[in-house]
Amino acid sequence: MFVRSTRLASARSIRFGLLQTSRRLNSTKSTPPPRKGFQTQFLIGLGVLAIGTTLASSLYSKGAPKSAIEPVEKKSGATFKDGEVNVIFVLGGPGSGKGTQSALLVKDHGFVHLSAGDLLRAEQKREGSKYGELIAQYIRDGLIVPQEVTVALLEQAIKEEHAKGAKNFLIDGFPRKMDQALTFEDTISKSKFTLFFECPEKVMLERLLERGKTSGRTDDNVESITKRFRTFVETSMPVVDYFEKQDKVVKVNCNQPVNEVYEKVKQALKSKGI
Ligand code: ADP
Ligand code: C5P
Ligand code: MG
Repeated sequence: MFVRSTRLASARSIRFGLLQTSRRLNSTKSTPPPRKGFQTQFLIGLGVLAIGTTLASSLYSKGAPKSAIEPVEKKSGATFKDGEVNVIFVLGGPGSGKGTQSALLVKDHGFVHLSAGDLLRAEQKREGSKYGELIAQYIRDGLIVPQEVTVALLEQAIKEEHAKGAKNFLIDGFPRKMDQALTFEDTISKSKFTLFFECPEKVMLERLLERGKTSGRTDDNVESITKRFRTFVETSMPVVDYFEKQDKVVKVNCNQPVNEVYEKVKQALKSKGI
């Protein structure tokens, strides 16, 4: 079901407002990949151009629904009102077990699991994607992809699942940066809480190197992993701190066998009434 929704979301392409996109993408120029600054800026430029083209074609395509081109910032509020959907963010460092534990929760509790990383990789591979190269470079460099791309992919996937009757969502690996957190909660839905996996870097490194033997991922190698750890500490941890100040974080220690972690996860969810 998840794979199908990912494809559908991708196939419809990414739609959002040009003005906001340009502004936000410009703001990402302040943190380009360390060793590929020019190339990244060039790619970001291409991204902006691509978004412009998408917007223009949406504007002029006959019968296109107005909502398809409505800029995110012009929305009067979140797409989903309180209680329409239940969103739980699943965070933790790379390799902390977010995907593994989310899959168990899907099996036992019928959550819809949407991994932001999986959605980005699917969009990257999608034939004809205007963001493929941009996404590939950010992922390889362990940096956070400009939020417009990720938020749009997630919104599309959530809407599609909601239309099919889904209500409870695990959003895995998101939000990884404050702008993602604020945009998602302003324009899509508030989160119920964040399930956070605490994990020592040493454990994550071992797991990721092991996973890298078969994952085929371009970022499961020592060089990318080092960058991902840095991004996690500098960019993603502030998001956890932000939600913690609102008393909206439940923490689970990752460093136990999968089933034992899962028992703790279930207890944590119970403490939040699930
Ligand atoms: P994340 O989604 O947070 O990056 P994954 O769920 O993909 O992490 O897990 C990373 C790797 O570690 C995978 O190969 C997975 O099989 C393994 N793994 C996950 N949880 C555990 C655990 N509790 N003990 C040992 N290995 C684990
Ligand atoms: O969660 P996962 O490890 O699959 O994410 C892989 C990569 O995708 C991240 O290192 C980052 O480059 C990108 N990503 C992102 N924003 C997110 C989630 C993932 O930019 N919210
Ligand atoms: Mg994962």
